Amino acid sequence: MSKVKFYKEEQIPLEMHKVRVVQKLTLLPVEERLKKIQEAGNNTFLLQNKDVYMDMLTDSGVNAMSDQQVASMGIADDSYAGSETFNRVKAAIFEVFGTENVLPAHQGRAAENILAEAYVRPGMVALMNFHFTTTKAHITRLGGEVVELIQKKGLVPQSDEPFKGDMDLDALKATIEKYGPENVAFVRVEAGTNLIGGQPVSLENMLAVADICHDYGVKSVLDASLLQDNVYFMKTREAQCKFMTTKQIYHLLADKMDIIYFSGRKLGFSRGGIITSHNPKYTNEMMEYIPLYEGFLTYGGMEVRAMEAMAVGLVESLDMEYISQGPEFINYLVNELDKYGVPMIKPAGGLGAHINCSEFVPHIPHDQYPAAAVATAIYIASGVRGMERGTLSEQREADGTERFAELELMRLAMPRRVFTLSQVKYCADRIKWLYDNRELIGGLKWVEEPKVLRFFFGRLGEIGYWQEELAKKFREDFGESL
Ligand SMILES: Cc1ncc(COP(=O)(O)O)c(C=O)c1O
Repeated sequence: MSKVKFYKEEQIPLEMHKVRVVQKLTLLPVEERLKKIQEAGNNTFLLQNKDVYMDMLTDSGVNAMSDQQVASMGIADDSYAGSETFNRVKAAIFEVFGTENVLPAHQGRAAENILAEAYVRPGMVALMNFHFTTTKAHITRLGGEVVELIQKKGLVPQSDEPFKGDMDLDALKATIEKYGPENVAFVRVEAGTNLIGGQPVSLENMLAVADICHDYGVKSVLDASLLQDNVYFMKTREAQCKFMTTKQIYHLLADKMDIIYFSGRKLGFSRGGIITSHNPKYTNEMMEYIPLYEGFLTYGGMEVRAMEAMAVGLVESLDMEYISQGPEFINYLVNELDKYGVPMIKPAGGLGAHINCSEFVPHIPHDQYPAAAVATAIYIASGVRGMERGTLSEQREADGTERFAELELMRLAMPRRVFTLSQVKYCADRIKWLYDNRELIGGLKWVEEPKVLRFFFGRLGEIGYWQEELAKKFREDFGESL
């Protein structure tokens, strides 16, 4: 985005790219939307894309590619071993992070699996600002435990705090001492902290975490999947970053952190996953798992055309005009809804706009999954597909009791460079209507509950007939409109 001042019009974000390939969308009538969400077991993951108007489920692997990325895919070298494509990925990693040791993996969670296999042993702990679903699943699967050390300010839904993802540094030192450095598998900083609303971590905090790890002889790991948005916030909210280039920030982080990994579905506008480090000791320790779980060391389960797109996309991640689009559209949506009184996570983060469902539907208890209920209500009201990020996304405790989420969030992800502002305005409009009718929304109960990562494919049913009532009210208020 560029900082263009409007003369008479409302001040809105202005894209520095144009659309050259389009995909047709369908907006089903409300009665059909009601039917589709119920057929999908009230789980937005189980909706078919043909039945979705705006797909705001995730920003993962659904970002728009640039013309340069698409062009690069034509020269992909699909040799099993020693592919030139991998050399171009390595060159891009070197440009962006300055690191020379690179391991490929088929996506972010695959990198997490490798990291966990290499370093997590039963009884060990992994310390982090906040967990991510797949990260935690891999650590606990191997008998490890996740300890979250987010600062208290991170869990305050509405505030002016610019860096809610920061780790509590005193708690970090105390926790390392409590367990003993030898029992800490690693300390993981998640940039753009996903499950608390895409909230950034300051450069100052990341560097301090790395220093503490160094002092205690514990490995520091950066999950850079959401680093692109995080760097935008560093540049715009943190004084010491204002005059640094994006590349200087990436390089500084890579100099300080022992290991960096990321999902190429987010960072790099592509697919795949990468682990990288300045220190070959770490990549050597993890290397043996790549052929075992992923593929040979020069593709790691990735498709070569996606790797070419990643190489170009990573370099585009340094360009402020590209990387500001997501956060500025999210900010627009959050402000529109906030002005109307809709309880949003504030300040706006990266990745998507997040509705605080504990306030949106305070009448729905945790064990009736308020955020999942709001996700189904939004689909009924608009054909927009969002994602539950609350209690349903948690794992049950070992004794089978629910683990209630700290925040009951409904996420409207903003895939990068994908939507137009009129679509974002439509989304805001339908959520305003839903907010005015929020007392109609009721809870959900399990029909089929998987044991692991249940939010992906579990099926739920409405408690009562509130969804039918909601659809009826929509028809009354909107008449013939879709
Ligand atoms: C912070 C973070 N880490 C890891 C992952 C896992 O990446 P992937 O979806 O490519 O497996 C994600 C995906 O959403 C993420 O947001």
